[in-house]
Amino acid sequence: MAVTINTLRDLKAKGEAFAALTAYDATFSHVISEAGVEVMLIGDSLGMVLQGNDSTLPVTMDDMCYHVRAVARGNQGALVMADMPFMSYSTPASAMDNAARLMRAGAQMVKLEGTDWMAETITALSERGVPVCAHLGLTPQFVNKFGGYKVQGREEKAAEQMIDHACQLEAAGADVILLECVPAPLAARITQAVKAPVIGIGAGADTDGQVLVMHDMLGVTPGRKARFVKNFLAETDSIQAAIAAYVAAVKNRTFPAEEHTFKA
Ligand code: KIV
Repeated sequence: MAVTINTLRDLKAKGEAFAALTAYDATFSHVISEAGVEVMLIGDSLGMVLQGNDSTLPVTMDDMCYHVRAVARGNQGALVMADMPFMSYSTPASAMDNAARLMRAGAQMVKLEGTDWMAETITALSERGVPVCAHLGLTPQFVNKFGGYKVQGREEKAAEQMIDHACQLEAAGADVILLECVPAPLAARITQAVKAPVIGIGAGADTDGQVLVMHDMLGVTPGRKARFVKNFLAETDSIQAAIAAYVAAVKNRTFPAEEHTFKA
């Protein structure tokens, strides 16, 4: 049966973890959704892992729509979430136009990076039938403001502000919250504070779901490996088996382990 936002809410209510993974093309979309991954994210990480850029900033709406169409064609029932690329949601009006393009291409939810300033935009999208995931913590489109890819919310003041932002964005209409690179205790507090399902990456084992970039979990990303990444292909003999192992590890909460987690 196809995964919907209600599936994710039910899983959260039952305390059962769900798996998300990035997908960028029809073939991997087929493999990933067949493996039981609940959410496929067409991440703007494609700017790095597919296009070879050193950030996600060069990704365009045309790039996103191309990959969303491909993933939607291969999908076997996962929920299809698409990133809104840099500056495509800088005003509520541009967000609505660009979200409409992604939804027409086959997305079932859009993801936006930012904090309380996105509330008005999220309400506008939500009221018009566009489900939204609000991405907090390390938001890669802000790399130039952060001065690098750094863990966020380490200080108590910043942690409290992130909890407040998550609550505000949920109240504005966000259906899902995604937390990237935040200390595990903070991610656990946010997961408890909101009713919306919370997906984590580098956010510890207590979020409702986990996401990884597919290239990272297959161990093919060149360069330094982030702490929260695990190569599942190393322990298996096929891509299908690696994805199945990832899904199983998320569901039985053996991934992420301590070694993949930021404590403070
Ligand atoms: O672009 C992306 O793939 C993402 C994930 C890292 C969450 O936003």
